[in-house]
Amino acid sequence: MSERQTVCVPQEEILKQKEFINSIKELNLGRLKKYSVTTFGCQMNENDSERLAGMLSDMGYTETESQKDSDVIIYNTCCVRENAELKVYGHLGALKRLKEERPEITIAVCGCMMQQKEVVEHIKRKYRHVDIIFGTHNLYKFPELLYGSLNSHDRIIDIWETTGAVAEGMPIQRKQGVKAFVTVMYGCNNYCSYCIVPYVRGRERSRSISDIVNEVSMLGQHGCKEVTLLGQNVNSFGKDAGQHLSFAKLLSEVNGVPGIERIRFMTSHPKDLTDELIYAIRDCDKVCPHLHLPVQSGSTRILNEMNRKYSKEHYLGLVEKVRSAIPEIAFTTDIIVGFPGETEEDFNETLDILERVRFDSAYTFLYSKRTGTPAAKNAVQIPEEVKKLRFERLVEVQNRISREINLSYMGTETEVLVEGLSKSSDAAFTGRTGTNKVVNFKGSSEMEGSVVTVKIEEVHTWSLEGKVIR
Ligand code: 5AD
Ligand code: SF4
Repeated sequence: MSERQTVCVPQEEILKQKEFINSIKELNLGRLKKYSVTTFGCQMNENDSERLAGMLSDMGYTETESQKDSDVIIYNTCCVRENAELKVYGHLGALKRLKEERPEITIAVCGCMMQQKEVVEHIKRKYRHVDIIFGTHNLYKFPELLYGSLNSHDRIIDIWETTGAVAEGMPIQRKQGVKAFVTVMYGCNNYCSYCIVPYVRGRERSRSISDIVNEVSMLGQHGCKEVTLLGQNVNSFGKDAGQHLSFAKLLSEVNGVPGIERIRFMTSHPKDLTDELIYAIRDCDKVCPHLHLPVQSGSTRILNEMNRKYSKEHYLGLVEKVRSAIPEIAFTTDIIVGFPGETEEDFNETLDILERVRFDSAYTFLYSKRTGTPAAKNAVQIPEEVKKLRFERLVEVQNRISREINLSYMGTETEVLVEGLSKSSDAAFTGRTGTNKVVNFKGSSEMEGSVVTVKIEEVHTWSLEGKVIR
């Protein structure tokens, strides 16, 4: 069986980048050099930032929270919604003073936003203090770009328009010990009419199962207990690599990796959720009973306009099928409010699907017009005030449902993988249930990385609280 056809970056190229890493390390020898990376957007961007952190750490830089103390400042950007873009411009503007005070620092911007020509032009003209601009397809080339920048006063701009090959073997420094993100495929072929991702992340490329399993095995050996397999649409994993591969097969392979106790994945497109995958979630003991299945809208008419390729009924049928196979499963979703042409009736269909599915939680977004996507050309854009009012109604309904579902945990004993100290309270430890509920409890650092049984004693909309009983 031929396992892959995905094109990888040649190993000579990877070795070349490692030489640049070593050259910068020599430059930094004996000096206390620091870096900061600020990430916008999804977990895939977080994972890319972990790669940048890995490269920087191998170059002899240490991480700092303070940009003022940084020698290298990176913004890893997102362009899925306009808000994220505006924030990046705000941050870049604020760095101008710092660059005037410390001209020797390097400011770099990368990520999805940079794959748009007009953005790069704008940064070139308005943010002259930015030293390096690079995109999503050539992230692995960062050592070479940084080396070039440190050795010249010219600004470096390196954006690849075409879909890049998959880079294996570059360093990575992960944020969390107990949990890790593992990107299993890059890009998206779906062209939902509102979404910019296929234009900036390119066509789908799957990693090979053996590369993924090797990475997960290393994580298992180093104390990681939970992996989240990432892709824009993991259900089409392997389709690009040709024959015999499927995401279900990948799940069962990862399920066999020693040390790993929990497997999560996101995101699944409803049009590609196969029976094979449903059975894999049911049958692989480490795969958590949680499915993130973005519905986007409850109106079949709007779903058609969105090019989602399923109807409301099809989605509801899927939910029923999954629930009958895995009764304890938790569903979460993404919803867009105010897609062009969305009427009050369409919006009511979205409220209706919330009530029918009863999602554990939903990420809710105001539709944001993205230049270059078909929906941006639609003449019937919804006024901001209407979007906001609908958004508030949606959040109110979802919050009630999330709270009601959480209430059903009251008094139950539930297994929680302990992640560490809770951010919200010094006294509390935090972890998640298999169904992805955040649980806070009094604990101790020895519990970190183990699964404990917590009796739930208090319930909130976003989290649960309880007492460890085992
Ligand atoms: N406007 C609002 N939300 C969007 N998303 C993607 N594109 C847009 C847009 N133009 C949302 C979708 C997707 C999530 C990651 O972001 O709900 O599932
Ligand atoms: Fe965007 Fe649709 Fe691809 Fe998700 S599946 S990344 S929403 S185009």
